[in-house]
Amino acid sequence: MTTPDEPAPASRPEHDDPARYIELAGFEGEWRELWWDQDFLRLMARRLGLGEVRRALDVGCGAGHWGRTLLPHLPGDAELVGVDRVEAFLELAAREAVARELDGRCRYQLAAAESLPFPDASFDLVTCQTVLIHVADPARALAEMRRVTRPGGLILAAEPDNLANTLAWLNCSVETSPADVRALLELQQLCEAGKRALGEGDSSIGGRLPGLFMAAGLRDISVHNTDKCARLVPPYATHPERVDLSVFVGWCREHAWFTGGREDSRRLYLAGGGAAEDFPARWRLVQAWCDAFVRDVEAGRFYGARGMLHYLIAGRRAPE
Ligand SMILES: C[S@@+](CC[C@H](N)C(=O)[O-])C[C@H]1O[C@@H](n2cnc3c(N)ncnc32)[C@H](O)[C@@H]1O
Repeated sequence: MTTPDEPAPASRPEHDDPARYIELAGFEGEWRELWWDQDFLRLMARRLGLGEVRRALDVGCGAGHWGRTLLPHLPGDAELVGVDRVEAFLELAAREAVARELDGRCRYQLAAAESLPFPDASFDLVTCQTVLIHVADPARALAEMRRVTRPGGLILAAEPDNLANTLAWLNCSVETSPADVRALLELQQLCEAGKRALGEGDSSIGGRLPGLFMAAGLRDISVHNTDKCARLVPPYATHPERVDLSVFVGWCREHAWFTGGREDSRRLYLAGGGAAEDFPARWRLVQAWCDAFVRDVEAGRFYGARGMLHYLIAGRRAPE
């Protein structure tokens, strides 16, 4: 099922295997809940005036994490609508809302970011998290988000710079030579270039969003970053450490790199202009890094202060 005037789809990995996507994106479990501190969001809510919001739209809501994370910072009677282009995620979001007794305030419907099925100026707040990194044409999605925001209303995007985030991992305690760090980063760069070329989005769009917000005609642009930073210190006894490591150890056990598993990474790498003959050696580096990481964690000798570039970029639709 698609919305009537949805644009011709680029490749949509989440459609091919929603169950796998739910697992890899951390839609179940608590990992996404580690991305923000509620006291930091309280500060942001005050600065951004979220107390004025009566109707909010969460674009590309997935299982609903981001909307639910923001909800405590909106007035108690504010309504949240979530849209996504994958039915299976919306079902999960609706179930989660019922489980938290939020179903009176949250509703979910099928829609593409590029053609939102709402009249102009329908919402006080239009927001998204880790969605613009997946769309073929972020300018088009932002224009649509702006259209459904009321004049003077807020557009708020939480989007990362994943190339920088990969480097943060590589700078943790797994011993990696400078040449291997460069090769791994280049692999990621080429995969990201391939992802862009295939119309699957820009995994490191965060740093480009102020420019895209300006180009979309937004005003009062502000940029913040999550204050979260994973402390990873043996014996990894805290709850956040256990959750964070269970996700990354799980990925590394199956050699799922930041760009996906081997086949998906190869597809993106080639689309990004990587040489086919170089890929096996690059992938052996990924495997070696992942194996060393798992070994170090299991032996209690992995240390890290894993910072995240996960920006919170806000802008207003100009009042009329
Ligand atoms: C990484 S998930 C993020 C989900 C949620 N925002 C969160 O932070 O938990 C990306 C989501 O964006 C959705 N998505 C990607 N492109 C989209 C588009 N063009 N229109 C609507 N949803 C889209 C995907 O289906 C997926 O649920």
